[in-house]
Amino acid sequence: MRRQIISLSILLLLSFCSFAQAPWYHSTTIYQIYPRSFYDSDGDGIGDLQGIINKLDYIKQTGFQTIWVSPFYVSPQQDHGYDVADYCDITPEYGTLELAQKLIDEVHARDMHILFDMVLNHTSDQHPWFVESASSKDNPKADWYVWQDGDGKGPPNNWKSMIGGAAWHYSPQRDQWYYAAFLPFQPDLNYHNPEVKEAMFNVVRFWLDRGVDGFRLDLFNSMLEDPEFKDNPFSWTMIFNEDEGFFQKMENTLNYSATYTFAGELRKVMDEYSQPQRFLLGEVFGDYQQIKDYTGHGSDKLHLAFLFDMLAFDLEADYFRQKLAEREEYFPKPYMPVYAFSNHDRKRSISRMDNDPAKAKLLATFQLTARGVPVVYMGEELGMTQARIPLKEAQDPLAIKYGWLPQFMVNMSDESLNRDECRTPVQWDTTTNAGFTKAGVTPWLPVQPDYPTVNAATEMSDSTSLWWCFHDLLQLREEHAALHDGTLSLVEFDNSKDILAYTRSTKQEQMLILLNFSGKAQTVDLQNYSGKIVYSTYLSNGTLLSGNNTLPPFGTAVVQLGEK
Ligand code: BGC
Repeated sequence: MRRQIISLSILLLLSFCSFAQAPWYHSTTIYQIYPRSFYDSDGDGIGDLQGIINKLDYIKQTGFQTIWVSPFYVSPQQDHGYDVADYCDITPEYGTLELAQKLIDEVHARDMHILFDMVLNHTSDQHPWFVESASSKDNPKADWYVWQDGDGKGPPNNWKSMIGGAAWHYSPQRDQWYYAAFLPFQPDLNYHNPEVKEAMFNVVRFWLDRGVDGFRLDLFNSMLEDPEFKDNPFSWTMIFNEDEGFFQKMENTLNYSATYTFAGELRKVMDEYSQPQRFLLGEVFGDYQQIKDYTGHGSDKLHLAFLFDMLAFDLEADYFRQKLAEREEYFPKPYMPVYAFSNHDRKRSISRMDNDPAKAKLLATFQLTARGVPVVYMGEELGMTQARIPLKEAQDPLAIKYGWLPQFMVNMSDESLNRDECRTPVQWDTTTNAGFTKAGVTPWLPVQPDYPTVNAATEMSDSTSLWWCFHDLLQLREEHAALHDGTLSLVEFDNSKDILAYTRSTKQEQMLILLNFSGKAQTVDLQNYSGKIVYSTYLSNGTLLSGNNTLPPFGTAVVQLGEK
């Protein structure tokens, strides 16, 4: 009898997991705004909060449901906001606390959601907490950061930062060293100290009380380090990747066990606010299992975690097929993968694809029809390209750190060392400065010369543009539960390895997605399918499909399947 009850409960649980409606943040679409480059409303050459408010209708019209805004708290801007000096106020060049509230309210008035960027791992070295902590060994905040005595000759141990070089920095005031996982002016907070946790939980509550729908968590996998300060073991890996590099496996500093426990504690704070439900999206680096572990059992840690392995994608059907299969294996319901192909730190996606809009449409069709939350960096919907800005002219502190590298070496790399190159101002229209700021004002980064053709106004008036591709797919995804909540199954066509095909299904409907990853036309045999086109780069909506179908180079089709 007991066994029967257990089997029945398991059955009920399984059917609940497969049919329960997904939480809203699993079926949403996210648009990332880097405020400095989004829209300048007051003519000082940098974007601002009022600028975001002015463009909310554009985002809504494009079809995104949630925005994530990179940090705009008080900051000396050495890392353009990722160095926070006061979490509960706004940096004056971007706006005021009242404007931040207005932004939250205006987003909600449009039936959209907003994520703030929460930089928990570190503060600016100009944050009053750090200034106090650094002032002596016995002040009330002495233990709020990660301080250690040196080993007599130098830093306390061999820990390296994620960007190369020692992670320890000497402070003559304390005659001690502080730890910084990223840049030296971003000292790590000490989360082994309960006071620090409570202070940051209160920051989180401060914004949740004001209505924020959740947070993107900066560098979440470097939150806690080994309290015994053991050396990191040697590794042969030189180039930093995930949690290894500069010849060490960073197991005592990155993805450290206590960070997973911390994810659970932070989740409890979020759960204090269940109406409406809020969510956490972690910036974490690691293998699939590590990333999955940050989301616990799907309900007790972070709600979602980025998967960054596809940022440097290969535009090949086999590559995408394999990534889809891996994600389905590791992140079945109640988990949900997150798909991102660019952001404010990495190369613009179209520039990995010869700046070709046809390829960008292919990628967009994939991103907006795969099973996962799509996160789209501002300007990607327009096909904004990667700029070329020499290291010597960089404003990005990472590029400044590596400013000694010869430019020719930098140019040889597929990746960009200067993050300014993906942060150029959004191209709004054909007017001077691409409409980002007033004529006569010098924007903080140069506007890309392709703005007369690559801009929102021009693309919105051309139904064949990339913007319309995003628009139509976002609308389709919102309207069809199969696309935002359905299961995914790969479909193999014997003779067409270059076609990636999969279905998205709910009990009620099924969609077939066909993507031609090659520069040649490809024919697929659709004898076993029949349906009508609901989105395609080469066929009109409503076209009925059956029998053989030829997809042109990089052509895409989303087919709503009917009864056979
Ligand atoms: C952000 C970067 C930032 C770094 C330090 C990241 O991963 O995305 O832009 O420089 O954290 O906060």
